[in-house]
Amino acid sequence: MAQCCINPSILSADFVNLEAELRRISNADAVHVDVMDNHFVPNLTIGLPVVQRIQAVSPVPLDAHLMIADADRWAPGFADAGVASVTFHAEASIAPIKLARELRARGAKAGMALRPGTPVEPYLDMLPELDLLLIMTVEPGFGGQSFLDLTLPKIRRARAAIDGSGVKVALQVDGGITEETIVRAAEAGANVFVAGSAVYGAADPAQAVERLRAAGSR
Ligand code: DX5
Ligand code: ZN
Repeated sequence: MAQCCINPSILSADFVNLEAELRRISNADAVHVDVMDNHFVPNLTIGLPVVQRIQAVSPVPLDAHLMIADADRWAPGFADAGVASVTFHAEASIAPIKLARELRARGAKAGMALRPGTPVEPYLDMLPELDLLLIMTVEPGFGGQSFLDLTLPKIRRARAAIDGSGVKVALQVDGGITEETIVRAAEAGANVFVAGSAVYGAADPAQAVERLRAAGSR
């Protein structure tokens, strides 16, 4: 059985006690850090200085999800900060191939995200440049939204393309992941799952991670 990865999103954590909140999910595979700029999405969260502090105290590697305009300008700084995996949005990058190469050259895994309405097909030739492809399963911007089942065919097509290409690219989904929806996303081919409210909304976040991992492994 292939074990999946569970990356809790700290968007649903208590921002005043981040260090303690990180310790509650030390059994996770990575911590998903949502960076929003109020331009690419209608919400504003944290920037590089806070991410650097999270990086300094986190018991697990960082998975940064940059929901920011002008990704080409800002994403490399997150790789320089030592973030293990840096994901930019395809819709926010002028030169995604150049950017992915820059992230790898700076020692990070290169991730690229697609909004629910963005087709994956124009980007399939880029798979060898990526370590991670993120298919958003809600419109980015807020935690606590419902999983969009209409993204399942795209997840399936992305899985087929990844397997067909022979390259090792993680297929991540983000938004509305619960113990129920994770089963459908895993069946469609996703193997890295971001969960915010399903983890930090639970009485015991570490136990929620284990339950999601069991439900999403296949
Ligand atoms: C949404 C963020 C997600 C969010 C997920 O734009 O990218 O990472 O925190 O939250 P849930 O799991 O509650 O949908
Ligand atoms: Zn996210």
